[in-house]
Amino acid sequence: MIKVAMDAALEAGKFLKYSVGKVKSIERKMGQATNLVTEIDKQSEALIIKKIKQHFPAHDILAEESGSHNIKSEFRWVIDPLDGTTNFTHALPIFSVSIAVEHNGEIVAGAIYDPSSDEMFSAEKGSGAFLNGKRIRVSTSQTLIESLLVTGFPYNVKENPNHAVEHFVNFLMEGQGVRRLGSAALDLAYIAAGRLDGFWEVFLNPWDKAAGILLVQEAGGSVTDFRGKPASIYEPNTLATNGTIHEHMLEILRRSL
Ligand code: IPD
Ligand code: CA
Ligand code: CA
Repeated sequence: MIKVAMDAALEAGKFLKYSVGKVKSIERKMGQATNLVTEIDKQSEALIIKKIKQHFPAHDILAEESGSHNIKSEFRWVIDPLDGTTNFTHALPIFSVSIAVEHNGEIVAGAIYDPSSDEMFSAEKGSGAFLNGKRIRVSTSQTLIESLLVTGFPYNVKENPNHAVEHFVNFLMEGQGVRRLGSAALDLAYIAAGRLDGFWEVFLNPWDKAAGILLVQEAGGSVTDFRGKPASIYEPNTLATNGTIHEHMLEILRRSL
């Protein structure tokens, strides 16, 4: 399954890279002016699903643009065909493809591919996390002031859901710096690779984070909700860190729950 996930992510990622600057149609999703979807998101998803169905026709699928394809299998593929659509429509080369496999509710394999840097992040449950085949581990930062943090904002951020704005200000005041890259899957992959130390975001969807959560866990990090409960891809709030700074970040999140 990991091989199929990686092959599909690679193929879709190459298609995305080739399609930069060639978008023909931009639609708004769910009546939100900033929530974009292009024909490239949909074509990327179709390509991924076709590949999975060739190898595992009896598996279920949960994909961002076409929803659930349920056959009542123990296995479910969770797919974001283009994570970072806003960046993509601006030809800003920070976007990715994220594909994960869930087995009886547990994520067992995940691949995130960044076509701009040709980086493939992959993990299988119990076998560690890898970047282009080499083992990766979370950072060793001990304190928040030496930690580079990253976050993202949901499309309804102007309504300040779940105190998104307060959390942002609080971390800006406590960390070394805060980044907003625009692809939650890559944010998580970078925590796994030790490039960034802590990530939080309100209101993520399962496809944004399924592969990324497994990567962080397999790289030795911690992932919970904002109260410290173990991560679930179906819970909106996500905190992922190198482990060492987790408690301090939870303390700051608790100031505005
Ligand atoms: C979005 C990106 C972004 C995050 C948003 C997501 P999309 O996914 O991951 O970084 O802040 O919450 O919805 O819409 O580009 O697939
Ligand atoms: Ca996404
Ligand atoms: Ca997407």
